[in-house]
Amino acid sequence: MTQHPVNPPALPDSDPLAGNPTLTVRDALRWVAGAGLPVLEARMLVGLVTGLTRTQLITRDADVLDHGQQQRLTDLVRRRLAGEPMAYLTGEREFYGRPFRVGPGVLIPRPDTEVVVQRALACLEGRHAPRVLDLGTGSGILAITLACERPDALVWATDISPAALEIARENAGQLGAQVSFLLSDWYGAVPAQRFDLIVSNPPYIAAGDPHLGQGDLRFEPVDALTDHADGLTDLRTIAAGALSRLEAGGWLLLEHGHDQGAAARELLATAGFEAVFTERDLGDNERCTGGRAPAEAPRALS
Ligand SMILES: C[S@@+](CC[C@H](N)C(=O)[O-])C[C@H]1O[C@@H](n2cnc3c(N)ncnc32)[C@H](O)[C@@H]1O
Repeated sequence: MTQHPVNPPALPDSDPLAGNPTLTVRDALRWVAGAGLPVLEARMLVGLVTGLTRTQLITRDADVLDHGQQQRLTDLVRRRLAGEPMAYLTGEREFYGRPFRVGPGVLIPRPDTEVVVQRALACLEGRHAPRVLDLGTGSGILAITLACERPDALVWATDISPAALEIARENAGQLGAQVSFLLSDWYGAVPAQRFDLIVSNPPYIAAGDPHLGQGDLRFEPVDALTDHADGLTDLRTIAAGALSRLEAGGWLLLEHGHDQGAAARELLATAGFEAVFTERDLGDNERCTGGRAPAEAPRALS
């Protein structure tokens, strides 16, 4: 993971968080917003250290923060001002209407990835007890969401990162999802069986892309973001191996960068997929390319 020296910016002179015995929720909210954070983030951080809900931050705004809460809040505000993602500070991010635990070991779920879920559910329509494989599961959002939305599905999920799998397993437990997790280099440790659907959101940012040094990406695991090459290496590997793992008529869905739609369609067509299509995300960018395994005799299991 990319590490950045973080020198906490100086907090305002009026910093009341130095053991103020009468610091109220109202004072704390005002101070955090005054330190330069948006009001919404101020509410989230004060809510996090006090355990108060958004409504309680209003109805109990005269509650006093104890010393430990003040120290924790000061630390969180410093880290946020230094650019650390809110999701890592709160330890949670919502995806497809469900809360997922996240931490520095996993990619922070993106709303754009919901388009993969929508298309995956459409691909599974009419299939009873479908077998689903999620490659590079990270926090588990794709595998767990599909397992929750389709409780009859048999879902496997892989990642090469033990830290990611630990978080994914915890999320599956919290959300009551039945998923079999595997430590695996793409298809390497996947059991020799066929799937109705393979989904993946692999690392697809090219090495040297300036976005890797900006915003939240600076704090996310670099191996979850980039293939350290042209951005297409992992998409190529997954597309090339998919037909030997899919049932005839099964689907492959791959998330990719906004400018990789044409390359992804080419990869799937070259690999032998039919009905190749690309789905756009909420921002109208090409985001997810899929294709169907031909109906003729499938390739031997590899
Ligand atoms: C872009 S993240 C996606 C995580 C999650 N699916 C999501 O959409 O939020 C890519 C994931 O692929 C995993 N990964 C990278 N290389 C891998 C490999 N060779 N085999 C399996 N997983 C890999 C990373 O650890 C990371 O969790």
